[in-house]
Amino acid sequence: MKPSANVEGEQTAVHFDAVTKRFDDVVALNAVTLGVGRSEFVTLLGPSGCGKTTLLKLAAGFLRPDGGSISIEGKRVNDIPTYQRGIGMMFQNYALFPHMSVAENVAYGLKTRRVPRVERDKRVADALALVKLKGMENRKPRQLSGGQQQRVALARALVINPTVLLLDEPFSALDKSLRTSMQVELREIQRKLGLTTIFVTHDQGEALSMSDRVAVMSEGRIRQLGSPVDVYRSPADPFVAGFVGDNNRLRGQLVSMQAKQATVALGDALVKVPGESLSGLEKSAAVDLFVRPEQFSIVAPEEPCAIKGSVVAQIYQGGHVDLQIECAGERLLVRSPGEQAILCWPMGAPVGIAIQADRCSAFPAA
Ligand SMILES: Nc1ncnc2c1ncn2[C@@H]1O[C@H](COP(=O)(O)OP(=O)(O)OP(=O)(O)O)[C@@H](O)[C@H]1O
Ligand SMILES: [Mg+2]
Repeated sequence: MKPSANVEGEQTAVHFDAVTKRFDDVVALNAVTLGVGRSEFVTLLGPSGCGKTTLLKLAAGFLRPDGGSISIEGKRVNDIPTYQRGIGMMFQNYALFPHMSVAENVAYGLKTRRVPRVERDKRVADALALVKLKGMENRKPRQLSGGQQQRVALARALVINPTVLLLDEPFSALDKSLRTSMQVELREIQRKLGLTTIFVTHDQGEALSMSDRVAVMSEGRIRQLGSPVDVYRSPADPFVAGFVGDNNRLRGQLVSMQAKQATVALGDALVKVPGESLSGLEKSAAVDLFVRPEQFSIVAPEEPCAIKGSVVAQIYQGGHVDLQIECAGERLLVRSPGEQAILCWPMGAPVGIAIQADRCSAFPAA
């Protein structure tokens, strides 16, 4: 069988075709189709229980699908055992062997594959150099920091020269700054090796910052597959709009529909949105408008078309300030760059909110 092409026209390294997996009466995956290009970094993003780990376990061969097929490099692997799939893995609980040294932990996969001693030593040294753990070969896992243990687990996955790297929330136990540096390092290593990677996270910031493409999942299905910019700027449905990044949901009314653009009234303001997601709606129909906090700006309350409200919370975030503004019983989140917002709009201050109307998304009211 020839490897199939993905959307970019590159060859597909991993292909899930209508894959279904049930656990008794729970449908963990419902006819999931996904192609991952060679050397691509694809992230599965979704809330707890949506099926991310299950999809990864199916790729690894720890589980068998109830329907559909999985191919790696064009070859159907449904009936091929894990050790013949060329998979490097790091799972949610990546436990190292506590009684083995760092080098022994990394060498383990090569020993089971009966790689000769000399080659094994060289590959372990190379893998440890790649994750910057040279000199730590003889330590035991308990003598390492959390980040160092994570690197050992990564080296252990990389040392077998996998065709595909599968990573299930590998950094969830690390503190924020360590997580950020591991994210950058992993991406550098992945690019350097040109390694096809499927990464799982429920952290949308991690997904947006690391991936070539993101598959946003919910309840056993992929709701949207696209670049980080696509899923952030052009969410396919209200679930994606609400799950990826912060978003405000406001109730508006459809005013008019041109070829590709619709106009939605929000109080006195008119907001233009892409029309596709509202096609078929009658004029005056209720619409849910999604506005990112950075698409709002604070203006004087008497400005025409402004949504009027008052400041109920100021959240200082370092580079920006998040303001919660109460408007007609609802709280809106407004993001203001810099620090001025703290002084300019104190708690209780009456303010107006204007919308930068070019990048909102809208869906028929739920
Ligand atoms: N071995 C199992 N037996 C029964 N149900 C299972 C089993 N493994 C997973 N499930 C169920 O399948 C669904 C998907 O689980 P999965 O572990 O894939 O979720 P996840 O997206 O990885 O979630 P999390 O972010 O919490 O790790 C859940 O409803 C889960 O309870
Ligand atoms: Mg999981």
